[in-house]
Amino acid sequence: MERTLAIIKPDAVVARQVGAILQRIEGAGFTVRAMRLVRLSQVEAEGFYAVHRERPFFGSLTAFMSSGPAVVLALEAPDAIRKWRALMGATDPGKADVGTIRCDFGTSIEHNATHGSDAQDTAAFELGYFFAGGELGEDAER
Ligand code: CMP
Repeated sequence: MERTLAIIKPDAVVARQVGAILQRIEGAGFTVRAMRLVRLSQVEAEGFYAVHRERPFFGSLTAFMSSGPAVVLALEAPDAIRKWRALMGATDPGKADVGTIRCDFGTSIEHNATHGSDAQDTAAFELGYFFAGGELGEDAER
């Protein structure tokens, strides 16, 4: 089993696409281990996307991610990281395969509806950014 961090971004929340995206997540066989509606501050968005700090789109990306509520999820499945990225499609919705989440719900490379961790080390950092171990069922008594 593997876990990954998914975000339903503010563009998809404001467009009332949370339910449709959750349906795709569960339909693809993921178990939702934890889920929360968050309103990130600019500083929290900057911390989350710190690896992109030097990129020209960093300011715009973090302003967008703190512009309204987002839904953060811990998803579990065999091969979850790769599988969630495949379900989302390419980062740029214009290049995403037909039937993927970003093709169907994204409107630009920035407003691309969802985020997913890209590797095991980033998944561990990103899951820890939003969820305590206990929320993920990692306490000994659970
Ligand atoms: P995400 O998977 O959340 O990871 C980083 C985000 O930066 C990415 O999705 C895009 O939304 C955004 N991004 C990546 N490249 C660009 C770009 N060239 N211009 C604007 N935003 C970008």
